[in-house]
Amino acid sequence: MYYLFQIGGLTLLVVGLWVAVSQPSNQVANIIETNLYKAAAYILFIAGTCVVAISLIGCCGTKFESRCLLGTYFVFLLFVFILELIAGIIALACYTQAEGFIKGNMEDSLKMHYGSKEAGKGNITEGWDYVQNNFKCCGVDGNATVAITTYSMSEWFKGSGGERVPDSCCKRNDDDDIANRDVCVNVSDNIAQIYDMGCYQVIRDKVIQYATILAGLGIAVCTIQIFGMIFACCLFRQLI
Ligand SMILES: *[C@@H]1O[C@H](CO)[C@@H](O)[C@H](O)[C@H]1NC(C)=O
Ligand SMILES: *[C@@H]1O[C@H](CO)[C@@H](O)[C@H](O)[C@H]1NC(C)=O
Ligand SMILES: *[C@@H]1O[C@H](CO)[C@@H](O)[C@H](O)[C@H]1NC(C)=O
Repeated sequence: MYYLFQIGGLTLLVVGLWVAVSQPSNQVANIIETNLYKAAAYILFIAGTCVVAISLIGCCGTKFESRCLLGTYFVFLLFVFILELIAGIIALACYTQAEGFIKGNMEDSLKMHYGSKEAGKGNITEGWDYVQNNFKCCGVDGNATVAITTYSMSEWFKGSGGERVPDSCCKRNDDDDIANRDVCVNVSDNIAQIYDMGCYQVIRDKVIQYATILAGLGIAVCTIQIFGMIFACCLFRQLI
């Protein structure tokens, strides 16, 4: 049982760490311009570490048949369980609000900072290029037509020399070269060479995908925790 618990804890820990340091997730963090994302990653990491540490206490308590350790284990378990419930409720409550707010942040970051030479804003351009190129999307929301409109309202557009979207919005061939740059960036009617999906949608879909896995994992860890608490209680009483 402690192994299950540790595996659950380790998974949370690794996922948290991955979200905090991986390249795609850092680039996404650059363009959504919020620390919420990082905060969630660190909470996951800390929760995972706690779960692993607590399961070690439980493990030792069982091994040495120590009432003190088992009692500590029970209290910590209960504490983490309550924290998890609170975190889950907050996550659900924030979710709908976060949606509109993140979309707004992305609009602002694209219109005001994409292509900016201002100090400290270089990462935003890099983030957008990375996300558009790797997630095969363009702009914030909607289809390619909407993306062109969004870019036409951006600071970048003023210095783009008449190009309607940046290179990172252009579809690529198998060798990862831009398939037809002229058609893509030129103000012709043909939008077939521009990614036809907003990056907000792509990011949201990915977040939902991972959040579902995490929620499942969280429920599994909580279930194991309930059994852990019952088990600790039983053993505690036997040791009188
Ligand atoms: C930009 O990225 C570099 C490394 O990629 C990092 O050291 C720097 O702190 C970032 N700047 C901002 C403003 O995020
Ligand atoms: C793109 O989206 C806009 C607004 O939702 C819509 O009016 C337009 O018809 C769409 N264009 C294409 C090519 O689907
Ligand atoms: C767009 O295409 C026209 C004709 O093919 C060309 O003369 C013009 O330079 C192009 N503009 C840009 C910004 O590439």
